[in-house]
Amino acid sequence: MLEKQSLPSAPILIEAIRSLGYSFQTAIADLIDNSISAMAKRIDIILIPNEYPQLIIFDNGFGMCKEELEEALRYGAKNPLEKRSEIDLGRFGLGMKSASLSQCRKLIVISKKDGKLSGFSWDLDYVIERQGWYLLEYGEDEIRKLPNISLFDNVDTGTYLLLENFDRVSSSTANLNNTLRDYMSDTINHLALVFHRYLDDGVEIYVNNNKIKSRDPFLLSNKSTMALREQNITIDNENIKVKPYILPYISKLTQEDLEKVGGKEDLKNNQGFYIYRNKRLIIWGTWFRLTRKEELGKLARVMVDIPNSLDYMWGIDIKKSTANLPDIIKKKLYACIDESIFQSKTVHNYRGRKVNKDKDINYIWERIELRDGCYEYKINRNIQQLKILEETLNPNQLKALDIALNIIEEQFPTNSLYLDASQGKVIEPENDENNEVIEKLYNEIKESLELCASIGMNKETALDALLKTEPYCNYEKLRSMFKEEEL
Ligand SMILES: Nc1ncnc2c1ncn2[C@@H]1O[C@H](COP(=O)(O)OP(=O)(O)OP(=O)(O)O)[C@@H](O)[C@H]1O
Ligand SMILES: [Mg+2]
Repeated sequence: MLEKQSLPSAPILIEAIRSLGYSFQTAIADLIDNSISAMAKRIDIILIPNEYPQLIIFDNGFGMCKEELEEALRYGAKNPLEKRSEIDLGRFGLGMKSASLSQCRKLIVISKKDGKLSGFSWDLDYVIERQGWYLLEYGEDEIRKLPNISLFDNVDTGTYLLLENFDRVSSSTANLNNTLRDYMSDTINHLALVFHRYLDDGVEIYVNNNKIKSRDPFLLSNKSTMALREQNITIDNENIKVKPYILPYISKLTQEDLEKVGGKEDLKNNQGFYIYRNKRLIIWGTWFRLTRKEELGKLARVMVDIPNSLDYMWGIDIKKSTANLPDIIKKKLYACIDESIFQSKTVHNYRGRKVNKDKDINYIWERIELRDGCYEYKINRNIQQLKILEETLNPNQLKALDIALNIIEEQFPTNSLYLDASQGKVIEPENDENNEVIEKLYNEIKESLELCASIGMNKETALDALLKTEPYCNYEKLRSMFKEEEL
């Protein structure tokens, strides 16, 4: 048999690769991946509106020398099967070319290393003219004329991408500049989310000099976010970290928090797994059909950290925007979902409506109506007796008290109480107006008032509060006894 070399046609293959399905925002994110992999601490995205708008992405990463840059611009610069460093966000050796040229017809890349600038471009029209894989190399003078090239003046190393001739976008709009501006604002949201862990770790991304604020979908800076037990799944000797979180109830969210989690309306939709590859969010807000998105699970979000060494397992795509979870991982995640959804329901229900009958009485136990028409009982934290403790205890003791109260509430023996009560076997607290009882309660109030006075609380206000609180509120006589008395 004879062998025959079958080379791809450059213009045709490049045109085909342009249609991989990048959106504007996934394309920019793929380029930012490269900057982050190059350890950049600051990335600038600059949109220059014009008759022929241009877009610059500049980073202060470790840059490339001329040979490295030429190699980086080759389609298929790296073998997708090759082991990558732990912090590398790349995989296919294509992103820089495929992402940029999915949006425009010309990509110029200038990089600085060892004090020298080098530059090349892919120009689709030139590739068509030459009918081959021809890059154009930029000389010093040509580099100097490029817009905002002075960005290099302040860095020892870095890389500059210039995207020109947005043919795809311009074919779909009458006003290219406006459309690009709109795309950019969606892109800011997208980058704020997918790179939020990098932004939280100090990487700075600016769009036209405005710093992008991280959009942490777990609201870890909100103290009311509840972290559940972290679980580790080992596959092929690699570790996948799974950590469920329960977001705080909506009333505890600030406006900024609400924006971060995708708004009130989308809360239900955004529950689910958040899959990170090397801390970069790839896919989010899905349970992979392992369970349904229920209203009550809307506060549950599960952070899953997968290292890039497992890329082969979950079929990550070139755009890093989809992934299929293999069955072995799914099975192990299942238990975790149950736990987080269950917790989410608890938080959700917690905000029941207080339905104690009489407004003038401070009940010790509050009866709270839940959404499904059931009730739960909680200790009223506003009763005078607890207020006295609040003023007296130090922060650690207060914490201990809070823990104790929570435990008491949680362990309320509903079932056995119900059984005993239904058989008439529960002794109700007596409301006997006999002298012994009255004297005991009277003394308790007296003691409480002394305590209040000793910590600077107003006795009158305290007495009023106590007389409205159970059990004292049930004894008219107590009220009249204190009326006659000088405090
Ligand atoms: N901003 C940058 N700074 C330094 N080196 C870069 C930068 N961008 C790209 N490179 C180099 O160019 C190579 C090719 O980049 P490209 O994005 O095309 O592929 P990749 O990142 O290796 O894989 P993927 O296709 O998954 O993105 C990278 O592996 C990296 O070595
Ligand atoms: Mg890349």
